[in-house]
Amino acid sequence: MDASAVVLGLESSCDETAAAVLRADGTILAEAVLSQLEEHAPYGGVVPEIAARAHLDHLPRLAARVMAEAGLGFGDLAGIAATSGPGLIGGLIVGASFGKGLAIARGLPFVAVNHLEAHALTATLPGIVPEGARFPYLLLLLSGGHCQCVAVEGIGRYRRLGTTLDDAVGEAFDKTAKLLGLPWPGGPALERLATRGDPRAHALPRPLLGRAGCDFSFSGLKTAVAHAVGRIPAEVRQDAARLLRAQADLAASFQAAVAAVLADRARHALDALPAATALVVAGGVAANAAVRGALAGVAAERGLALVAPPIRLCTDNAVMVAWAGIERLRLGLADPLGHAPRPRWPLESLAGLE
Ligand code: KG4
Ligand code: ZN
Repeated sequence: MDASAVVLGLESSCDETAAAVLRADGTILAEAVLSQLEEHAPYGGVVPEIAARAHLDHLPRLAARVMAEAGLGFGDLAGIAATSGPGLIGGLIVGASFGKGLAIARGLPFVAVNHLEAHALTATLPGIVPEGARFPYLLLLLSGGHCQCVAVEGIGRYRRLGTTLDDAVGEAFDKTAKLLGLPWPGGPALERLATRGDPRAHALPRPLLGRAGCDFSFSGLKTAVAHAVGRIPAEVRQDAARLLRAQADLAASFQAAVAAVLADRARHALDALPAATALVVAGGVAANAAVRGALAGVAAERGLALVAPPIRLCTDNAVMVAWAGIERLRLGLADPLGHAPRPRWPLESLAGLE
């Protein structure tokens, strides 16, 4: 695939509708993300049917918009890459079908992109680190739906070293934020509240800290916050300023516990992957400064770089989808148009490539 070839990426696996136009040398020609926060906020979480309908409404227009911004017609493309799993099936069907339609109309190769692979390969995008991260590296995928330590050994070559036994870390942020009376999605709101609190105010549990392996667990931590909220005395509840301080202390203590657990799990994962060239974070929770700080500390201990893509490339986006598509097309790995979207699609099940 020549460096000037251009690929359209489409993302619709959860509640972000996104499209991006990328050149094979990694240059982003145009990108757009439409978040559906407002549609889902009244329900306190993503409603799959609302998400699918919103993708159907927005995706064709968004794709046309990025193509216009790139100054290209669909006939100028060298391929179409659409997220085809894992995720919510309605949205996956919308994005994959739209992508296949374009591919048929223009006679283009189609890549059914694994969303987790797209997050995993973002670090190899030239410009994130000067020449892109080199394999193998350790990926911490920290989002609302996923929480994994992954050895990224090449394109299509992933080994999951650890995963969550209960909640994903973003889910833990969202549930804890709800306990503290914050609006959904809770992560960013909880981080803002935490800046006003004392992270040492509560000795919250640090689940699995120091235990062998790289698995995670967050439900006990969330329960501990629920109990602490229940213990806030009535006189504090009646005083808005004191209540805010109590909630801020809990937010800060929760965030400190999460950061400590993630750092500990990252150390164990790096022990399991001694050849790692970098510690890479991805997913919405990678936007959290306390989490980034703790992981930067672990990377520094090991003499490694912490590779944290800019926040817009950590959260769900189509640049990463187009890039994963380019990496696969370079290897001649287009997918048949009969490829069915997969709501569950573990990284390790991807064909191992040499
Ligand atoms: O990767 P993402 O945009 O979507 C998926 O889940 O796939 O991640 C969203 C998650 C939500 O749980 C959100 O609360 C969390 O990332 N998040 C944060 C922050 N920003 C987003 N968690 C903690 N601190 C943040 N600043
Ligand atoms: Zn994601």
